[in-house]
Amino acid sequence: MGMLVTTRLLKTYFTPNRYFHDQISDLTGKVAIVTGANTGLGYATTVALAAHEARVFLACRSKQRADDAIERAPEIKAKYPNAPKNSALEFLELDLNDMNKTFQAAKSF
Ligand SMILES: NC(=O)c1ccc[n+]([C@@H]2O[C@H](COP(=O)([O-])OP(=O)(O)OC[C@H]3O[C@@H](n4cnc5c(N)ncnc54)[C@H](OP(=O)(O)O)[C@@H]3O)[C@@H](O)[C@H]2O)c1
Repeated sequence: MGMLVTTRLLKTYFTPNRYFHDQISDLTGKVAIVTGANTGLGYATTVALAAHEARVFLACRSKQRADDAIERAPEIKAKYPNAPKNSALEFLELDLNDMNKTFQAAKSF
């Protein structure tokens, strides 16, 4: 089991298909919707897209958590060559547990 995990990790590390955020092209004029954008993978995706000038909608169930994520973005964006402007990050209310709210999010978008 341990050997299998190590082999997979090594394969992931050395694969020629590794992808870095600086390979993302200029996204000016592009619009992205990121679910779960206030934390984890969604947050990292949001910051990377915004750093390349995409307009990003943070599709989250909590406006407070989305706003907190938008507040945090300037600190993290400093490491990106193209800093996103806060105005490029917007909250879109979305709770995927609730079909009505999901339709509402699509409508509002
Ligand atoms: N992290 C990894 O290494 C990894 C690897 C492979 C796959 N994944 C998968 O990728 C996904 C994200 O991982 P993560 O580590 O970024 O997870 P995470 O940090 O737990 O983030 C989950 C995000 O999803 C949101 N969310 C949860 N339920 C939701 C709902 N009903 N409607 C709308 N948003 C909802 C959460 O919002 P709240 O803050 O409101 O709860 C949060 O923003 C998960 O499905 C995970 O299984 C993760």
